Amino acid sequence: MSVRIAVGAQWGDEGKGKIIDLLSSGADLVVRYQGGANAGHTVKIDDKKFILHMIPSGVLNKNTVSAIGNGVVFDYDSFISELDILKNAGIRPEGRLFISPYAHVVMPYHKEIDRAVENNRKTKIGTTFKGIGPAYQDKITRCGIRVVDILDKEYFPVVLKSNIDSKNQLFEALYGEKNKFDFNAIYAACLDKFETVKPYVKDVSIMIEEALENKKSILFEGAQGTLLDIDHGTYPFVTSSNTTSGGVCTGTGISPTKIDSVIGVMKAYTTRVGNGPFVTELFDDAGKHLSEKGFEVGATTGRPRRCGYFDALIARYSVRVNGISSLALTKIDVLGGLEKIKVCVGYKYKNEILKEFLPVSNVLEKCVPVYEELDGWQEDISEIKEYNDLPANVKKYIDYIEKITKVPVEIVSVGPERNQSIFK
Ligand code: IMP
Repeated sequence: MSVRIAVGAQWGDEGKGKIIDLLSSGADLVVRYQGGANAGHTVKIDDKKFILHMIPSGVLNKNTVSAIGNGVVFDYDSFISELDILKNAGIRPEGRLFISPYAHVVMPYHKEIDRAVENNRKTKIGTTFKGIGPAYQDKITRCGIRVVDILDKEYFPVVLKSNIDSKNQLFEALYGEKNKFDFNAIYAACLDKFETVKPYVKDVSIMIEEALENKKSILFEGAQGTLLDIDHGTYPFVTSSNTTSGGVCTGTGISPTKIDSVIGVMKAYTTRVGNGPFVTELFDDAGKHLSEKGFEVGATTGRPRRCGYFDALIARYSVRVNGISSLALTKIDVLGGLEKIKVCVGYKYKNEILKEFLPVSNVLEKCVPVYEELDGWQEDISEIKEYNDLPANVKKYIDYIEKITKVPVEIVSVGPERNQSIFK
């Protein structure tokens, strides 16, 4: 029995989908705790590639129960279309996929507001336009609509009407558009779609308690990454939830005393989609190498990801704010072919050398990376199955990361397939 969290240690897209799929074979219950359909978890099984936005990646493992916790903002359109994808692939999620009644729901107007706000923002965040910020905003301003509210025939029309009236007023005041959102259309479509959702609704906190009582293994599936956390990330270029391990307790209803370990999913280099500071970003041939060899394109938006060298300050920060106890080091095969590999060990800021990461975007924008250089390798390592068979310089790179983070590497991922994983 174990209770562990898998968390993205950088700006998301670290390869969590694959690692969670791998770890979920040893888990009885996999639970998502934050974010929404902005996530894009890619899992490759044999010749099939699944990109899941809303449904936990654990669902691909047929012996695992998957759940969406209260901290997630639930996108029912995404959920329903992913149910279809699963069913078409012969995967039956009934009876082993659940959604908390207390999750807030992303309504169609949230997506429109997301787009309007972003388009009118002077400094763009680069959001995924999935309605994430506006849905969390309604939750925090206490006018949101939860799954349980939609299932309440008397309450739902009342709360929806009041939301639509206020969004219409806002849209008219801000953008001069009258009666932007139509109550009847949204109400009818939502009720209709919730007929599909209803059988999956179940109290996730109680499910977790029962799993603990029955000595089951639980895996919490983080979405996005540490530096996109609303509190610990590169604010304001962040998402609107607590992506870090702390989000698990509030986002699912488990006590912190029940968590055993946190695995940090860390790419062997760094990428970011969307705007915001990125100290080790590359604009040269090495950046092109990472982008092309790593197929660095966003799974949700199809945008190219920005690429850069590994940043030790970010790695140590992530270890600190998440309590990371082991690492899954991903996409290390992508570094192959570079003659030298740089690792950022400090930020030059004005006349100082900063040794600790700080979540302050306007300072980070002005930082210049201070690098140490390691020898690269030319071998293709994507078919290697045993740690000892890795080339010496790959092992040196892994040792180096363990030394600077003071955390052991548990899994080394050398390709997108399940079997391209080395347990160290
Ligand atoms: P939002 O979460 O759609 O509001 O987007 C806010 C920021 O987080 C943008 O820079 C997005 O590109 C980024 N973001 C959101 N979800 C993900 C993800 O799953 N992976 C990587 N970046 C993400």
